[in-house]
This record gives sequence, structure tokens and C-alpha cells, in this order.
Amino acid sequence: MLFLGFSHRICLMILLFVPTFFNGVESLHRILLDTDVDTDDFFALFYILKLNRSEIDLKAITIGTNGWTDSGHAVNQVYDMLYMMGRDDIAVGMGGEGGILPNGTILPDVGGYLPIIDQGYATAGYCRYRQAVPVGLGGRLDIDSNYGFRKSFLPQGKRQYSPLRQPTAQQVMIKTISSGPTVVFLLGSHTNFALFLLSNPHLKKNIEHIYIMGGGIRSQNPTGCCPKNSTSSCQPRQCGDHGNLFTDYTSNPYAEFNLFMDPFAAYQVIHSGIPVTLVPLDATNTIPITKEFFETFEKNQHTYEAQYCFKSLKISRDTWFDDQFYTSYFMWDSFMSGIAASIMRKQHNYQGENEFAEMEYINITVVTSNMPYGISDGSNPFFDGRTTPKFNLERNGVHSGHVQTRLRDPVCVVKNGMGKCQDGYTKEVVGPSGVPVRVAVRAKPNQNPKSALDREFFVSFLDVLNQRENSGLFNFSTQFPHYRGELHKPDFRGKHLGKNVVFDMDMSAGDFIALIYLLKLPVEEINLKAIIVSPTGWANAATIDSVYDLLHMMGRDDIPVGLGDVFAMNQSDPVFSAVGDCKYNKVIPQGSGGFLDSDTLYGLSRSLPRSPRRYTAENSVKFGAPRDTDHPELRQPLALEVWESVVKSLDPGSKDILVIGGHINHGNTDKGNVFNVPSNKFAELNMFLDPLAAKTVLSSELNITLIPLGIQRKFSAFPKILKRLQLTKKTPEVIFVKRLLSTLHHLQKTHPRYKHMDIFVGEILGAVILASDYSVLKSTFDVKKIKVSATGYESVDGQIIIDEKQGKSMKVLKNVDHLGYYNVFANRLSDEKQSAVVGSFNRQTRL
Ligand SMILES: *[C@@H]1O[C@H](CO)[C@@H](O)[C@H](O)[C@H]1NC(C)=O
Ligand SMILES: *[C@@H]1O[C@H](CO)[C@@H](O)[C@H](O)[C@H]1NC(C)=O
Ligand SMILES: *[C@@H]1O[C@H](CO)[C@@H](O)[C@H](O)[C@H]1NC(C)=O
Ligand SMILES: *[C@@H]1O[C@H](CO)[C@@H](O)[C@H](O)[C@H]1NC(C)=O
Ligand SMILES: *[C@@H]1O[C@H](CO)[C@@H](O)[C@H](O)[C@H]1NC(C)=O
Ligand SMILES: *[C@@H]1O[C@H](CO)[C@@H](O)[C@H](O)[C@H]1NC(C)=O
Ligand SMILES: *[C@@H]1O[C@H](CO)[C@@H](O)[C@H](O)[C@H]1NC(C)=O
Repeated sequence: MLFLGFSHRICLMILLFVPTFFNGVESLHRILLDTDVDTDDFFALFYILKLNRSEIDLKAITIGTNGWTDSGHAVNQVYDMLYMMGRDDIAVGMGGEGGILPNGTILPDVGGYLPIIDQGYATAGYCRYRQAVPVGLGGRLDIDSNYGFRKSFLPQGKRQYSPLRQPTAQQVMIKTISSGPTVVFLLGSHTNFALFLLSNPHLKKNIEHIYIMGGGIRSQNPTGCCPKNSTSSCQPRQCGDHGNLFTDYTSNPYAEFNLFMDPFAAYQVIHSGIPVTLVPLDATNTIPITKEFFETFEKNQHTYEAQYCFKSLKISRDTWFDDQFYTSYFMWDSFMSGIAASIMRKQHNYQGENEFAEMEYINITVVTSNMPYGISDGSNPFFDGRTTPKFNLERNGVHSGHVQTRLRDPVCVVKNGMGKCQDGYTKEVVGPSGVPVRVAVRAKPNQNPKSALDREFFVSFLDVLNQRENSGLFNFSTQFPHYRGELHKPDFRGKHLGKNVVFDMDMSAGDFIALIYLLKLPVEEINLKAIIVSPTGWANAATIDSVYDLLHMMGRDDIPVGLGDVFAMNQSDPVFSAVGDCKYNKVIPQGSGGFLDSDTLYGLSRSLPRSPRRYTAENSVKFGAPRDTDHPELRQPLALEVWESVVKSLDPGSKDILVIGGHINHGNTDKGNVFNVPSNKFAELNMFLDPLAAKTVLSSELNITLIPLGIQRKFSAFPKILKRLQLTKKTPEVIFVKRLLSTLHHLQKTHPRYKHMDIFVGEILGAVILASDYSVLKSTFDVKKIKVSATGYESVDGQIIIDEKQGKSMKVLKNVDHLGYYNVFANRLSDEKQSAVVGSFNRQTRL
């Protein structure tokens, strides 16, 4: 009885408290924002961070790894932006190694790297939708590096990506949403959030509302139209399309990028029963960045965040591929964040009244497959070859038709017409297949008609970004006022330089160690003339900055670095060369042990000193750009240009090539290492990643020495090399190499995703052999007649064939003395000559 009375009283107290509780904080909205960190995404992020925190409180950011950026670059940019804004309290979630089992069980921590339809157990997989995103200039390279401004402008805080310690997107979503009512903002693909909803249906009740920038319902794309007086030769491109897939509208004129990255995920979100507000192209097309807005923004940069956004906007304009920037660049995500904030400030606002856009309820669905439904044409892994469809989907339902398989899927391309596939289309429908969604249909004009800014939101955007409250604390140069961006170049006067070497690297961890070793070889023996970076393997192009930083550390800012083609040979699209296939590099994991770790050097790239040289999107008409940017002299040179200038500077003479890679299989017993293509047992990754290039090199007239997988494997044990380094003098480069190798070793022992780490140790062998001192290494070689298979068939491409008739004769490394090898390596690194000029980022910032 006593207990009953007691609990009654508690009930009463709660009842009494509820109204005051609501009165006090009713206006407070906790926000979780999922973003792929594209330029307009961080415009939105800064806008939200600057709003009144007792009204709009950003609690967490999750990063969409299936979109316009690469995970390692995206996550560190977010950490740095939050640090600049003094907001290290905001949780950041990214990636995860869980997967989806064949029976549809979603494992915890699924990383969201792949669209749900293609998500299996691993993070490696084909780029069915994502290949619509350009990879190099104007695409992921520029977004990853924010055109070069990420490293020149943003400060560097303590938070950063670190392998196996990074909170995952799913963890952060679960934690944030289970701690209270949450409003979710989706600025990229819906993969992360759909996976969250599918795995945590019990937490749906905590989601107040979902705001989405994406889709196009009644939109008519205003770009790519022919002027009225044009000649008949003008071909309208996207004019009037619903969507904005400018790289692939010949197959799909209906989709908008965000939703196209994962239509099935978008379907799950929009059909979840949770109230949704959509800001589609219908609305964003009515708020193009005008010349007047641009010029007003240029004059109003009173905070660091305004500066950062303006710089990014300006270089986007200056590098825009045609003359239509002001009619084809819109306020996308930032517009959505403005609309959302304005709606939320008003209570009980079911119609979504707000200052910036007109709203309307429209019943829509998201198209995930194309009619006719119920066919099985090999395009749809939810159904094809399965007795029970995945996730118990309905056999003849909306998900059961043809699913766009790739760029210019022949099923989607119609002769002389607009493509017919609708994957990712937010289609207006009547009847039970649709759901009512609150839609922004049009941007509101500025209430002050005399203003140069024609949209109300422009005024708010500039006001909020420039206001003092909640503004950024510093940028890189004010954080480190003593940092001097000086180049370090050695003085070679009076030295006789040795053999000229050009190092071609794909930026795997092993390549970085090999590069450090090459820089330690006496210049009288080996003169490293240039570095060529091939972003077709283990790392994405923007990782070239780590190469610059390493050279800076070693005092070798004199060495030119050329950026190679972002696609393997014959993989770029014949119609639009900025996009292409991932037929070969799809075998590299996106997450742990793959791109994520190479792009961050396993979390260590930020401990390198920061070089004044870095990738930048600066460009010049002289090199074929549409216009000169502000600093065309800073343009990133291409591999071919660097190569040609090196060749020109050399005396004619013999040219030898040392190739690290290839696998010579003896009697079909020892396998290659293309672990994600089971049908290809004998290829080695370096050859497989670009078979045509390998074939071209290995069949050339040059003298070749091959260091194949078999011998690399003999030298790939971590404990031996680490033990030997333990005993040497600690130069900064010994410290760095040791940290990297111990990290790899530790990860290998800790998590199955890092099982393959030893392949990187083997890659060092080439650098050591290059300046081999026969008396120590006792290296022996065979001569073999070799050919590489590059037929276009995955199951054989990249394999080495011994062919006595057609093969090219080359030297193949057979054996090296173990003890000698580890001694040479460790002694060289610990040599105090040619040692680092600036040991680390910390040292540099203290100087
Ligand atoms: C922020 O919002 C709260 C609650 O609505 C309000 O009391 C406060 O005055 C606002 N602060 C500013 C600086 O506008
Ligand atoms: C799916 O497969 C896993 C592993 O084989 C098993 O543990 C799980 O129970 C299965 N789930 C269903 C729903 O069949
Ligand atoms: C950082 O901010 C300072 C002060 O506003 C400015 O002078 C400097 O140019 C900024 N740094 C960069 C790299 O833009
Ligand atoms: C079309 O008209 C515009 C402006 O009226 C003019 O600038 C342009 O040169 C004309 N183009 C052609 C092909 O006549
Ligand atoms: C829109 O959806 C609602 C809820 O499902 C339904 O009641 C309404 O009839 C639909 N409207 C149209 C035009 O289909
Ligand atoms: C690769 O492309 C080149 C040039 O476009 C072409 O000549 C060659 O036939 C192609 N090779 C294959 C295997 O597709
Ligand atoms: C290959 O090596 C031989 C012997 O060292 C040399 O004579 C020849 O010029 C070299 N060929 C090339 C293409 O460098």
C-alpha cells in the first residue's frame, strides 16, 4: 500500500511537471545530420552550427560514405571544421565493418559504403550507382581536398580518424536517437539512415521528423537548354529533365544524385511512416547562385566560416566546366537547412510554413527498379537466384524489376532519346503506393524587392554565416601563427648525383615506406628525380597530399610529383571521361584495411608536417582549363608532364624498370592476392588493378626486373623488421616507419579485416634492391620470358604467363639474404645523413 501511494505521488509529480517541461524547452530540437561532406553540405553544416543553440542543437554528424567524398578525407575534414567552430562536443560517426548476410540479416555497424542492394559481408564492392560521381577534377578529388583549401585553411585539432577507434555511423545514430527525440537531416545518400531504421525499428518513435535534400518531383532542370536563337547544332542536354545526373542522363534523366546513390535506402526512409519534409530540385532549381549573390558574399566575409565557404564557392565557379555557373549551381543543402530551421522555430507547424520556401503536400514514392516487375534479368540481387527474396521483398512488387546496373546500362539507353531508367526518381503517384510528403516547391523572393539578393534565403544565409555568435575560433594560420610555409630543398652543389630514378606509387602503406627508404639512399648513388602517383590502386587521388607532406618532412620539396590518371586503362567512360568503371579497383575494401586507411595512412598522415605544396584545383588556360583561376601557377602537374620533363632532362642511355608485383605461380599451388575475386586465383594486385597498363609496360622495349609476390612474401614478417628497427638509432624517419609498421602489425593481430597487412611489408623490397649492394644482399635473379594477361576477363586478368615464344625476357628476383636485407633497411633509415628536416606536425607547429 505504501508503495502504491508512493508511486501515485510520482505519477502526479510527473503529470504536474510535463507542461512546464514542455514550456521550458519546447523549442529545443536535437539534430542528427548525415552528410557526404560535399561543398554545399558544409555550407549547411556551418549555417546550422551558427543558429541559436537553445533552439537548434546539433548533437551528432554521421558521414555518408556512399557519395561524393571518400571516407578518410571526409571524416578528417569534418573533425577540422568542428574544431574550427569550437564544437568538439559533437559526436562524429563514420563507417563500420558490419555487413549484410545473404539471408538479409543486417549485422551491427554496417558501414554504409555500398548501396543496400549490393551490401554483402565486406566493404569492397562494385560501384553500380556511385560511378555516376566523377572521380578526379570536379569530382571526388576536388571534394576530398576541398579544392586544396581543406589543408591550407582549416585548423587541425586533436580529433581525427584512427583505425578501429573511430565511432561508427550506426553507433552514433543509435546513441543519439535513443537519448531523446531527434530531428534527422539527410544531405547525402540515405544508406546509413535506412540501415539504422531497418535494424532499430523500436527507435523510430524517437525520430520527430526527417528533412531531406534530394529528389526531383515536378522539377524541370533548367540547365543544358539551347538558347532560343541557337543554331540546329545545339543539342539540349538536361534541359527539362526531372533529375540532375549530368554524367548519366542518357540512361536516367529522372534521378537526383543523393537519392540515386541508394534508391532502395531512400525508399525505406520515405516510406518509414516518419514525417518527412523534402527539399527537392523543384525548390533548389529556383535558387541558383546569382552573380549578385556571389558578389555580395565576396564583400561579406566576416568570419572564418564565411571565408571558407566563399573560397570554396569561388573556386567551384572558377573551375566550372562551362560558362553556365550562375544558372546551374544552386543552393542545395544549405537551402534545406534554412527551410528546416525556419519551420522548426514555429510550433505546431504542420503545413511547414517558413520564411524561405513555399510548401505543398505531395504523395510520392521512390522508384527502386524499373517496370515490368517480377522479371529476373540478372540485374537485381534482391531476387536473382534466390528462393526467398532478400528482406522478404514481394516477388512482383516495386523492387522486383530491372535495377540499373551501371553507367549507360544498355537497358536504360534509348536510341536518340532520353534514357528510360527511373532508379532513384521521387515520383508523384496516386493511390496506396505513395506517401504524403511535405515538399518545398519554390524559393520565396526577397521581401525587400530593392535588394540585390533576389531570394529571402540569400539574406539569411549571409547574415547567419557572418554573425558573431557561435563563430569560428581560428583558421590554420591564426592557430599556428609561427608556421612558415617555406619549401625545404637540399643543396646539391658540388655533388655528383647517382642513378636517376622515377618512383611510381599507388600510395599504399608499403609505398610510403619505400619512398622514405629511397629518400635515405645517398644522392650520389640514387637520385630520385620525380614521383608519379597512380590513384588507381590502394588510395584515392587526394592522398597525394601525404606524398607532399612526406617530401616536406624529408626536406625534398624539390622533387616534382605528378598525378596520374584516376582510371585504369580503358576504364574511363568514352562519352564523359570524368566518370568511369571500377572493374578492377572494386577489389580494394572501402573501409578498414582499404581506402579509408590508405587515405589517412592508418591515422598517421596527420602527424606528418604540413607541406606548403599540396593538391589544388587551381588551373590554367595554358593547360586546357576553361579559364585561369587566381593562382594558375600552383596547378597540380600531371604524371605525363612530369615524366616528359624528366625524360627531357636526361641523357639518352639505358632505361631500366623495376616492377614490384606480379605473381609467378609454380604448379598452381601458390595463389595470388586478389582476395576479393575468387575466380581469379593467380593474379597479383598491382597487375590486376590495371592489367592493360601492366601489359604495356611489361611488353615494352625497356629492361625490366620483376620483384614478384613469391619473394615479397618471404620478407613480409612484421616481427623481424620491427625488432631490427627497435635496435637502431631513432631518426624521425625510423620513428615514423616504426609507428606505421607497428600499427599495421597490431591491426593484423586485432581484426580479421586487417589480415592482409603483410602485403605492404613485401612492397619495401623493391626499394632496397634498387641500390642493392651485392656483397650484403646477395640477391640472385632468374631470367624468364613473361607476358601479362589483359583480356578484359576478370578471372584471368593480371595473371603472369611464362611464354617461351611470345614472352618478354626479364630478370626476376629469386632470392635475397634475409639478415642482410633487414640490416640494410634499418641501417639506412637510422643514418643521420639525409635525415628529416622537420620531424613531425607537432615539431613543425612548435617551431
Ligand atoms: C535563443 O533562444 C532562446 C529560446 O528561444 C531565447 O531565450 C534566447 O534569447 C535566444 N538567444 C538569442 C541570442 O537570440
Ligand atoms: C541468417 O544467417 C545467420 C548466419 O548464418 C543466422 O545466424 C541467422 O539466424 C539467419 N537469420 C535468419 C532470419 O534466417
Ligand atoms: C586566416 O585568417 C586570417 C585572419 O582573418 C587571414 O588573414 C588569413 O588569410 C586566413 N588564412 C587563410 C589560409 O586563408
Ligand atoms: C543569341 O542571342 C544572344 C543575346 O540575345 C546573343 O548574345 C548571342 O550571340 C545570340 N547567339 C546566336 C547564335 O545568334
Ligand atoms: C495521399 O496519401 C494519403 C495517405 O495515404 C491518402 O489519404 C490520399 O488519398 C492520397 N492522395 C492521393 C491524391 O493519392
Ligand atoms: C583499350 O583502349 C584502346 C584505346 O582506346 C583500344 O585500342 C584497345 O583495343 C582497348 N583494349 C581493350 C582490351 O579493351
Ligand atoms: C638494356 O640493357 C642493355 C645492357 O645493359 C643495354 O645495352 C640496352 O641499351 C638497354 N635497353 C634499354 C632500352 O635501355
